[in-house]
Amino acid sequence: MLKEYLSQKKELIEKELQKNLRKYLHPKTLSEVMYYAVMNGGKRLRPILMYMMCDLFQRSYDNIKDVATALEFIHCYSLVHDDLPAMDNDIYRRGKLTVHTKYDEATAILVGDILLTEAFNIIATSDYINDKNKVNVMSKLSEYAGFFGMAGGQFVDIKSEHIKVSYDTLKYIHENKTGKLITAAIELPLIILNVNQIRKEKLIKYSRLIGTAFQIKDDILDIEGTFEKIGKKPSDEKLEKTTYPSLFGLKKSKEILNEHISEAKKILKDFENNNLLMELTEYIGKREA
Ligand code: IPE
Ligand code: IPE
Ligand code: MG
Ligand code: MG
Ligand code: MG
Repeated sequence: MLKEYLSQKKELIEKELQKNLRKYLHPKTLSEVMYYAVMNGGKRLRPILMYMMCDLFQRSYDNIKDVATALEFIHCYSLVHDDLPAMDNDIYRRGKLTVHTKYDEATAILVGDILLTEAFNIIATSDYINDKNKVNVMSKLSEYAGFFGMAGGQFVDIKSEHIKVSYDTLKYIHENKTGKLITAAIELPLIILNVNQIRKEKLIKYSRLIGTAFQIKDDILDIEGTFEKIGKKPSDEKLEKTTYPSLFGLKKSKEILNEHISEAKKILKDFENNNLLMELTEYIGKREA
């Protein structure tokens, strides 16, 4: 059931991504790199979560599809920059050469800048969101992508290489570099769909649990995953990254992961029509890719 849902939604999301990418025609070589950075086999988890919020409240996807494209653009930008030599210095992403490896560093930096900037343009010019929601969505999204979110988390992640840091710092890294864009995936649709405050708060709490869980699993897969499945090569040990496995070992990390997944599932019990979201939550803990 979930498998079918994921592949159907991935197709829908990728159609929207491609529709938006078609706008960028000249310079042609630059538009090709943008396409390479986005249309390269990602799981599309963040847009899928957004579509799931619509399904949870039985609402149409029309209102959120532009924000889903914008968020996936920001996620793809974060990956392109994350792989740069100045950051994680990785050669493979999603089973293919990273953008700076296939092209060059300047191109990778600029394509990241463009994806981030265009994400806000897509929201600003959307025909599906009213002006008040546009402002609210852009305000939250900029918070979650910038200093108070992904980029802030990435900074502390980089500065925590080769040194031992506290558990609080590790939590800060995960909550920000990964958690905030996952919270965006849950919260932005709830703003647009005008979901009441109590439900919104519960689901934001849920998003924080799955956000941290998602990164703990990513850290575990960096050790246990295979290139065939995850499409990337191990990188954390070489860089002496601060991760759950580096701080607690694999066994304890898996226990903490499972605790986050069960807490997240408990929150969902308060919602009707939660079957698929329950299954997706399980999948975040068990995924092999
Ligand atoms: C990878 O994210 C980076 C993290 C935040 C762990 P994903 O695992 O969602 O990457 P794609 O989009 O599926 O390639
Ligand atoms: C990256 O975490 C999180 C981002 C904000 C991109 P990682 O550096 O562990 O992600 P991967 O393993 O390269 O995908
Ligand atoms: Mg990184
Ligand atoms: Mg990385
Ligand atoms: Mg990783």
